[in-house]
Amino acid sequence: MKPVLEVKDVQKRFGGLWALKNISFMVGDAEVVGLIGPNGAGKTTCFNVVSGQLPPSSGEISFDGQSIVGLRPNRIVRLGLSRTFQATSVFPAASVLENVIRGAITRMNVSFLGSLLPTPGSAEAMERARERCMQLLHQVGIAHVHDHLAGALPYGYQRRLGVAIALASEPKVIMMDEPAAGLNPEESAAMGRLIRQIHESGQASVLIVEHDMRLVMGICDRIIVLDHGEQIAAGKPDEIKSNPQVIEAYLGAEAVH
Ligand SMILES: Nc1ncnc2c1ncn2[C@@H]1O[C@H](COP(=O)(O)OP(=O)(O)OP(=O)(O)O)[C@@H](O)[C@H]1O
Ligand SMILES: [Mg+2]
Repeated sequence: MKPVLEVKDVQKRFGGLWALKNISFMVGDAEVVGLIGPNGAGKTTCFNVVSGQLPPSSGEISFDGQSIVGLRPNRIVRLGLSRTFQATSVFPAASVLENVIRGAITRMNVSFLGSLLPTPGSAEAMERARERCMQLLHQVGIAHVHDHLAGALPYGYQRRLGVAIALASEPKVIMMDEPAAGLNPEESAAMGRLIRQIHESGQASVLIVEHDMRLVMGICDRIIVLDHGEQIAAGKPDEIKSNPQVIEAYLGAEAVH
């Protein structure tokens, strides 16, 4: 399998705390990969470093064979690596469809943006973008509320909108931080089906952080486990489920709460 995203020996230090210690993994061009671990393990930090929100303290990150360390988040999105956030990240005062169109615009190059200026043909370009974004809303199952204010959507729909916004930039890899957080079991299962469908249709590979073990074990091809900033295991769901170090990390976390 061809690696698309490669993370090598990445470390991240916050003052005296090593949030990531020598993390190395890759995401291939046709995979759903899980990144799991107890609270505070470093999962979101890993996403922030890979997506360019935070600089790594050391290490190398490459995408499509090109180093992306030091690139700004928007540039990384344009290369084909997009993400959803742990908290919902919609523009609440804009319509659902406008939110997706903004996601699409992040990816567009200057000449395309130029073509949106009021010149002959621009209305047509805008109409094409709008149609594409409506298709994405159909895909995530919220096309019927495309003209509602994003901020007024029920929580489960906001999470789906987050996925549509990330898809709008036409990523090769989409990183999702807890897409099922706060969802009921039925909504969580539907999110799982959506993620598999994104992958199986060849639209994008997925790197997912998620606490819902049923979801993670059900949809991931491979799983990477972090604990206190260290990578303690990597393997197929069945291997991870029976890995003593993983079980101990989770039991330890339970005992603390
Ligand atoms: N910007 C920051 N400054 C200082 N410390 C931070 C910062 N971001 C995260 N940390 C610390 O780094 C560690 C890892 O946090 P992180 O948010 O990556 O964990 P997580 O695995 O995403 O946890 P959760 O499952 O609760 O979302 C924690 O100890 C956290 O307090
Ligand atoms: Mg987190």
